[in-house]
Amino acid sequence: MNIVITGANRGIGLEFVRQYLLADHEVWACHRGNLGGLAKIDSPLLHPVKWDVTQALSVDTVALLPASIDILINNAGIYGQDQQLNKVSAETMRHVFDVDCVAPVRVVQSLLPRVAVVKGRIANLSSKMGSSTDNGSGGCYAYRAAKAALIICSKSMAIDLQSQGVQVITLHPGWVMTDMTSHSGLIDAQTSVSGMRKVIDRIADYELGAFVAYDGQQIPF
Ligand SMILES: NC(=O)c1ccc[n+]([C@@H]2O[C@H](COP(=O)([O-])OP(=O)(O)OC[C@H]3O[C@@H](n4cnc5c(N)ncnc54)[C@H](OP(=O)(O)O)[C@@H]3O)[C@@H](O)[C@H]2O)c1
Repeated sequence: MNIVITGANRGIGLEFVRQYLLADHEVWACHRGNLGGLAKIDSPLLHPVKWDVTQALSVDTVALLPASIDILINNAGIYGQDQQLNKVSAETMRHVFDVDCVAPVRVVQSLLPRVAVVKGRIANLSSKMGSSTDNGSGGCYAYRAAKAALIICSKSMAIDLQSQGVQVITLHPGWVMTDMTSHSGLIDAQTSVSGMRKVIDRIADYELGAFVAYDGQQIPF
């Protein structure tokens, strides 16, 4: 399969790259300039592609991506700083929204023809923190709002793309030991990604536009 992953130079994105390469798939690993862990991988199946997802896909970049995409993983994301009610700035709210919600929508707009041509799958990485039902502790204004908006956009994508045979799922990776959590998560990236890969494999078993955790459990939002 041809697999495209954004934010693939570290954390969960890098682990997706490792696992799909191990399974002999061809991987286009998008990063925004720093190769990070990709530099240590020696595989003819790996194609690093420089792409800051807040920027429109350039003609040069698009030429580096495959003509058909079986799985597109919108993984790139940021958490944001100072998100308490008395501190969060409009600039932080806009920036986190741009990276965590606007960018995945634009990525899909840019690459949809290449996914549709093989009736491929799209996985959008949101977070349980974007679930209003799950919000028992408040705060985190920018991140919660952006990830909630991504769940909504991802559900619309699932509905809109059904007629083209493209399946879309929204994922929660769990609380994972990566830079984003200062490595204080409950599970490692390996566990998270192997679980999410199973969910992506079984996408048809879930209701349209479902929000699903790495362990296969559907999350209300
Ligand atoms: N870790 C968790 O517990 C957890 C929980 C729920 C959801 N998530 C979500 O899972 C995804 C991956 O998280 P993670 O824990 O692996 O985070 P991470 O370790 O902080 O890695 C984030 C990745 O996104 C990339 N990125 C950020 N902005 C980008 C941009 N504008 N263009 C392209 N790439 C960009 C980063 O690239 P640079 O190296 O260039 O910064 C990095 O590769 C995120 O969407 C996150 O919100 C994570």
